[in-house]
Amino acid sequence: MINVPKGTKDVLPSDSYKWQFVEKTAREVARTFGANEIRTPTFEHTEVFLRGVGETTDIVNKEMYTFLDKGGRSITLKPEGTAGVARAFVENGMHSAVLPAKLFYITQCFRYERPQAGRLREFHQFGVEFLGSTDANIDAETILLAKTFLDKEGIKNVTLYLNSIGCKECRKKYEQALKDYLNQNIDDMCELCKDRLNKNPLRILDCKNDKCKEITKSAPKILDYICEDCSNHFEKVKNYLTIAGVAFKVNPNIVRGLDYYNRTVFEFVSDNIGAQGTVCGGGRYDGLIAQLGGADVAGIGFAVGIERILMLLENLGVEIPNPNKVVYYIAPMGEKETEKAFELVSKLREKGISADFDHMNRSIKAQFKYADKIGAEKVVVIGSDELNNGVVKVKEMKTGIEQLMTFDELTK
Ligand code: HAM
Repeated sequence: MINVPKGTKDVLPSDSYKWQFVEKTAREVARTFGANEIRTPTFEHTEVFLRGVGETTDIVNKEMYTFLDKGGRSITLKPEGTAGVARAFVENGMHSAVLPAKLFYITQCFRYERPQAGRLREFHQFGVEFLGSTDANIDAETILLAKTFLDKEGIKNVTLYLNSIGCKECRKKYEQALKDYLNQNIDDMCELCKDRLNKNPLRILDCKNDKCKEITKSAPKILDYICEDCSNHFEKVKNYLTIAGVAFKVNPNIVRGLDYYNRTVFEFVSDNIGAQGTVCGGGRYDGLIAQLGGADVAGIGFAVGIERILMLLENLGVEIPNPNKVVYYIAPMGEKETEKAFELVSKLREKGISADFDHMNRSIKAQFKYADKIGAEKVVVIGSDELNNGVVKVKEMKTGIEQLMTFDELTK
């Protein structure tokens, strides 16, 4: 037997309706915020992510599925959605169309990570990217979209952590102060953070190692270093969120794992799905489009992990209705009756009603068992009497109540 590769999963029919529910909600919420779908390729030139996500990030350094194609080009399976969208925005001259461009996507992503609950090598994101506005109201709008999506999924108990990591200038000053502080504690830090100290010191702030956590507790806080403009922007974001009734906690340790962010960053975190509790992460990335060769266009967005949403729904006991159940199961008792059943299911299906009949030459008893297994709402038995009289009994499986109907009434 050949198994699926480590860190990937099959979505079986017993679960696919849950995915459809999550995706439908995502599309519906995006529509109400005026966002349109964008689909970009599963793979890009590796450079898109080197320049987009950033060469000092874990994603680029350790986690990308990169290979040379038969033409010798370096290709990477997308580890996230934003860089590809930014590349498409530049390539298609979208900055000269209507701004802000309000975009969303549902896509698979690939990261070579150590698989565990909520962490896969192939996973799926619902993401939103709003491009073209530097206004704080679009930061709040983006966060509100994420919150509305979570609410509509039935997910209430998540915490929104909010932070500002300032602009390049504020970050330069802050990084220096942070490095000065961390250098005094370097011996007690984990090996990874020792390495991060010169490459990407902000990442040390969200290290999960206990000693590093203890050290960063007393580290200088970014919010004490951001400039007046960035500070005003942050105040406005908080004000808009308050107007929208979105509760948040300012957390200066939220720095995010990708290089393109500036100013607003945020995460929605749940305590109900174990160590990988971040269901949604996002932020502003005003320099990304220019970095990929485009105009000076600002951007903000987020992505939620669909697998984590599904885990959360399961753990919270949120019931997802299965719309794919068969409404009518027609149970014929012989060959002529099977022909009639075939005709009836075809008529029902033309009306958009799901209907099924016997393909296995089963006894009536076995057909009832089968109808029960597939969750059929109603069963109609056709024997020789029913065939001759043109009248059938329609049995509601849940209640056992039977109703007499002619063939015409059944398919009307
Ligand atoms: P991210 O925080 O790397 O951000 O990923 C967003 C979400 O994807 C996470 O919160 C998590 O739910 C899910 N996720 C990430 N890695 C995995 C994994 N290995 N297995 C399962 N789920 C995972 C981004 O990707 C940014 N592009 C978000 C963004 C959009 N920022 C601005 N616009």
